[in-house]
Amino acid sequence: MNANQALWEKGDFTQLARTMRQSGEKFVAGLGITKGMKVLDLGCGDGTTAIPAAKLGAEVLGVDIARNLVEAGTKRAADENITGIKFQYGDAIQLDGIDDKQFDLVVSVFGAMFAPQPYDVARSMVRVTKPGGRIIMGNWIPGDPTLVAQVLKTSSAFTPPPPEGFISPMLWGTEPEVINRFTAAGIKKENISFEKVTFTFIADESPVIYLQRFINYYGPTMNAFDAADKNGKRAELQEQLEALFTAQNTAADPGKTNIDASFLKVTVQI
Ligand SMILES: C[S@@+](CC[C@H](N)C(=O)[O-])C[C@H]1O[C@@H](n2cnc3c(N)ncnc32)[C@H](O)[C@@H]1O
Repeated sequence: MNANQALWEKGDFTQLARTMRQSGEKFVAGLGITKGMKVLDLGCGDGTTAIPAAKLGAEVLGVDIARNLVEAGTKRAADENITGIKFQYGDAIQLDGIDDKQFDLVVSVFGAMFAPQPYDVARSMVRVTKPGGRIIMGNWIPGDPTLVAQVLKTSSAFTPPPPEGFISPMLWGTEPEVINRFTAAGIKKENISFEKVTFTFIADESPVIYLQRFINYYGPTMNAFDAADKNGKRAELQEQLEALFTAQNTAADPGKTNIDASFLKVTVQI
């Protein structure tokens, strides 16, 4: 199994995803989805964006490299009696078995950004989109002061250096890199646009309890704690993250969590 797949199968992203549903629905509501539109949700997790897209009448294929999340998405759709949606295993790098020019919209919210080989990912997304269709990505921004960029930054400070040649997923959050990747896939620069938008993490628990979800279920944070354990630095990492989550919380009730995180919305017109 490749390291990318192992990272996401290690945890249980559903435990975080359930605190992101409101933002997922709001994001999808702004994508101009109409009945019958063919939508690919790449790195779909358990359907935070795929399920709202299907509810708007789109014909949705959710693809994810983590088999546990494909299963969780399939179950959510069945439990909610949602039709016109299918979840399947796949890797954003190749999108094997998916024909060219299939989709009106390819959406990937904090998904494809985590695949290695970003130039191949851009090429694959362009390949499966119909002429006249769109690709929309949501990518965390390196150095951004909000939650997820800071969690990833803190986590990486406690994790051993990545193997040589590793390309940080966060580069998908920088406009020049996104332009390089899509222009290399044959897209004109003027057909790529950017907007900074926000997702809100909402939970009925204090930010310190909420952090526990990252520690127990979010692959990158789990790896950071594994590495910190080996160096006797667990308490230091925990303290830094507790301070971060508490400082970022805007809920009036300290027993609840409401944390905004900014990301780069990328729109590519094919
Ligand atoms: C942060 S989660 C986001 C999930 C979902 N888009 C959401 O908003 O809830 C990242 C997702 O990308 C998936 N992913 C990572 N690398 C991938 C790859 N190479 N191909 C397909 N999916 C991938 C992970 O398995 C995980 O479900």
